[in-house]
Amino acid sequence: MTLLEVDGIDVAYGDVQVIWDVSFSVSEGETVALLGANGAGKTTVLKTICGPLAPSAGTITFHGEPIGDLEQDEVVPKGVTHIPEGRDIFTESTVKENLRLGAYTNPDGMADQFERVYDVFPRLEERRGQQAGTLSGGEQQMLAIGRGLMSDPDLILLDEASLGLAPVLVEDVFDAIERINEEGTTVLLVEQDVNNALHIADRGYVLESGRLTLSGDAADLAEDERVAASYLGG
Ligand SMILES: Nc1ncnc2c1ncn2[C@@H]1O[C@H](COP(=O)(O)OP(=O)(O)O)[C@@H](O)[C@H]1O
Ligand SMILES: [Mg+2]
Repeated sequence: MTLLEVDGIDVAYGDVQVIWDVSFSVSEGETVALLGANGAGKTTVLKTICGPLAPSAGTITFHGEPIGDLEQDEVVPKGVTHIPEGRDIFTESTVKENLRLGAYTNPDGMADQFERVYDVFPRLEERRGQQAGTLSGGEQQMLAIGRGLMSDPDLILLDEASLGLAPVLVEDVFDAIERINEEGTTVLLVEQDVNNALHIADRGYVLESGRLTLSGDAADLAEDERVAASYLGG
């Protein structure tokens, strides 16, 4: 069953249009990868889904309900969580406090979600009293994902979760995403790391200069030389 449906969206910053007629869907339980070179418009698409931007044309529906014009604080309670590029954690607060803030729409489920997050990321439980700004890059990424999970989302939007991490941590982060998906959360991810992304994804879409140019099963895209070319071509 379709969870997220993006239908023919255009998106602009002021007068400058950067997304043209983009359509794709994500079904319940899937992991879908949105791929493309730097500047292709991946972050813009995620921000349009989760609230800060609105499409100038087209529609976005979630659970069959239009969400394109909603703000972020209206989208989170509906079950969409966004883990932005660059993590965006509260560096002065502790790990536990960061997680608690992620549950602001879900106070009743907070204890269960703490348990789930600590189960996926035991490292965060060990360091729950530590100031978030003193965590390593990989731990900060785990915290950002963990905080997103605290709202008990149906759909998690992940923007460049592996960027800047050492290879061993990249593997940990992808393992965690895979596990979160196996536990029932649908995932839409944007990644520079195409190989890892297509390894955990069911399907993928390729965005080039604001337009979708290719889509298919992850295994087929992983073999398709046009995917590599789209990264080089920009
Ligand atoms: N706040 C902004 N104001 C104006 N242009 C922007 C802004 N953010 C991104 N852009 C432009 O939109 C295009 C797509 O950017 P982005 O969505 O960040 O791409 P990606 O995430 O694929 O690297 C780029 O040309 C970028 O320069
Ligand atoms: Mg981006």
